[in-house]
Amino acid sequence: MNENALCWINQTIKPARDATVSVFDHGLLYGDGVFEGLRFYNGKTFMLEAHLQRLMDSAAGIGLQLPYSSEQIASAIEQLVEAYFGDSGYLRLVVTRGEGSLGIDPRKCARPNLFIIADELAVMDVSDQAVAVALHVAQTRRTPAQCLDPQVKSLNYLNNILARMEATRAGCDEALMLNMDGYVSEGSVDNVFIIVEGVLKTPPLEDGMLAGITRAVVIDVAVREGIPCEEVSLRVSDLLAADECFLTGTGAELIPVGQIDDQLLPVTPTPLLPVIMQGFQNCIAEYCANP
Ligand SMILES: Cc1ncc(COP(=O)(O)O)c(C=O)c1O
Repeated sequence: MNENALCWINQTIKPARDATVSVFDHGLLYGDGVFEGLRFYNGKTFMLEAHLQRLMDSAAGIGLQLPYSSEQIASAIEQLVEAYFGDSGYLRLVVTRGEGSLGIDPRKCARPNLFIIADELAVMDVSDQAVAVALHVAQTRRTPAQCLDPQVKSLNYLNNILARMEATRAGCDEALMLNMDGYVSEGSVDNVFIIVEGVLKTPPLEDGMLAGITRAVVIDVAVREGIPCEEVSLRVSDLLAADECFLTGTGAELIPVGQIDDQLLPVTPTPLLPVIMQGFQNCIAEYCANP
């Protein structure tokens, strides 16, 4: 744990190592809760409104009443970012069902717990965004919406963790998860894009993935840059045949994919990804500029 990590909990900010929740918390006992991962740059939290909206949607998706209003949560984030030693970092916002009895019934939990950790960024083992990552097509399929809607960013990430463990065993950096129909859904913690003959393509949300906030920003960037963008179902074969392939996520931002299992993706002489990456950095700079 990073010594400088801070935690906002029960309306106070303390060193993260001193922040605790009960062993009876259903977030711990059952993964019953929701979370958000956010980044701040230059002391300002990127896409804060979108993250708060997704948090509220996730909470509503599991019938969890947030213990604070979104204004109160935004203010807690602001205090935490201000108290943090650096002007850039990562925030983990967690809401658990709260402390209850050992039974699964959420009605036994009196009040949800909310805490926010500010820490340095810990993403995939990729420190340099120019380095392309290797994906492994996981046997573990993405949980279908009929079982647990992937758009709910719940505390139950075992589906994604099992896929990531497969990727690690295969010597790859990240898992590529398919839906039950065999179409590409997403990575274990990121969304997937390809570029084919100048057109940006990403699977539609109905193919069962988290509605990534970075994904939405990238689509906006493409529109701004005049790059056509389509939401279409994709097969692994589409990724292998693409001119470019990349992943998007709050932690990793945009990362090129260089390989899927043992197949190397072709290197394109005039890649579009650098244009999109630059557009994305411009969005961060605009959003997080000093007021
Ligand atoms: C399963 C999953 N998909 C996609 C993403 C990317 O979402 P965002 O861009 O909002 O970080 C995440 C981020 O944590 C994720 O956990």
